[in-house]
Amino acid sequence: MKIGVIGAGYVGTTTSIVFAKYGYQVTLMDTNLEKIKTLYQSKLPFYEEGLKELLHDYIVEQRLSFTNSMEEIMKECNILFITVGTPSLENGKADLSFVEEVVTQMAKYMDDYKVIVIKSTVPVGTGDKLNDILKNELKIRNKAPTFDLVSNPEFLREGKALFDALYPDRVIVGCESTKAREIMKELYKDVDTSILFTTIKEAEMIKYASNAFLATKISFINELARLCDGKGVNINQVALGMGMDKRIGPDFLQAGIGYGGSCFPKDIKALLALAFDMDTPMPILQAVKDINETQSQWFMKKVKQELGNLEEKRIAILGLTFKPKTDDIREAPALKVIDYLLKNKASVTAYDPQGSEHVKKIYPTVTYTPTPLQALEDADAVLLLTEWQEILDIDWECAKSIISNPLLFDGRNALSPSNMMKLGYRYFGVGNTN
Ligand code: UGA
Repeated sequence: MKIGVIGAGYVGTTTSIVFAKYGYQVTLMDTNLEKIKTLYQSKLPFYEEGLKELLHDYIVEQRLSFTNSMEEIMKECNILFITVGTPSLENGKADLSFVEEVVTQMAKYMDDYKVIVIKSTVPVGTGDKLNDILKNELKIRNKAPTFDLVSNPEFLREGKALFDALYPDRVIVGCESTKAREIMKELYKDVDTSILFTTIKEAEMIKYASNAFLATKISFINELARLCDGKGVNINQVALGMGMDKRIGPDFLQAGIGYGGSCFPKDIKALLALAFDMDTPMPILQAVKDINETQSQWFMKKVKQELGNLEEKRIAILGLTFKPKTDDIREAPALKVIDYLLKNKASVTAYDPQGSEHVKKIYPTVTYTPTPLQALEDADAVLLLTEWQEILDIDWECAKSIISNPLLFDGRNALSPSNMMKLGYRYFGVGNTN
């Protein structure tokens, strides 16, 4: 089996490295030559712990190679994963143009049997559409269709990509041919988990449904946090108590300033757009989106209440990325917070271990510091927005002496309110403030 992966983004690069780890020969393709050059130098086009070392090893061992040629990858590989992006269009729908272009190009070089595996997140029914495109293109070339289409959605998280790809909770394979099913079974034989075989449409829906449900848990706990706030009820304790019920589970019940990233916001919009098209409203999902979109406003209202006029106030932001252990700032709540602060003429200083360079391009007037303590100098308030370990590890006692006003807004409920109060901070969290 020779594996080809098309699209050297987060999912594609991780998938390639993980299949190389399982001993397969993998070729990763991207039309962006710069990306290919970067990978050849054993460099990742994004930050993710643990991947760089493996990338280097597998290049040296010649298990992993790169190309920008569709012809080459189609000649060499018999299983082809599509991992290109499906960003949001203006109307919220997933933009399928990259996926469609990939299969159109594939058909040009398809001369023998191929398993085409869709890993990109695509709306229900996309498999059928891609099938049609492939068949039409092959017909133009007078070729009989010699492929099977498979939907194999990805469930890895940024920051934990390697772990999630190596130890998945489950593998979903949407597949309607016995031959392709056996190939997929063989492909995943060394992965210690269950494989659920479904139809292609079911697999497509499982991906959206999983992300939507996780986002629902987050918005539910955030809505409840608003209710707990100021009532002497700590949302963290409530989540702990709820999570002890196995039917509920403890994960994704961490209240905060809302979810971000390249997946939840985009996928929820796409599912809502699909529901709209099918004239089947999804009020729960709409509420999930609305709560998330207003969560940072709710948080900033607290800041405003405490500080009054924000003009010329020095605000220190700790954490910019949408979650720790990534340099990804897409849909990061910190962006909305910075926007609000700058519009209110505050002076903003920010620290993030990985995200500063990216945010600097959008907000050049913010001061970015190389250490967290430098960001705190003379601050009138501190806003913790991403729970990076190096931020939690700050010597908060020492920090207090350089902050002008020890006022702390913890947007991730990542610090202990009682400890911070003992150190003399006025502490405000999300649903854990008395
Ligand atoms: C998410 C899913 O968790 C993955 O299973 C999926 O494969 C991926 O999307 C995708 O579709 O590609 P990811 O966006 O990398 O992964 O990150 P998550 O760990 O899910 O976090 C998403 C956001 O929710 C972050 O902003 C995080 O801070 C927030 N979050 C998470 C909370 O606010 N509370 C929680 O309890 C958990």
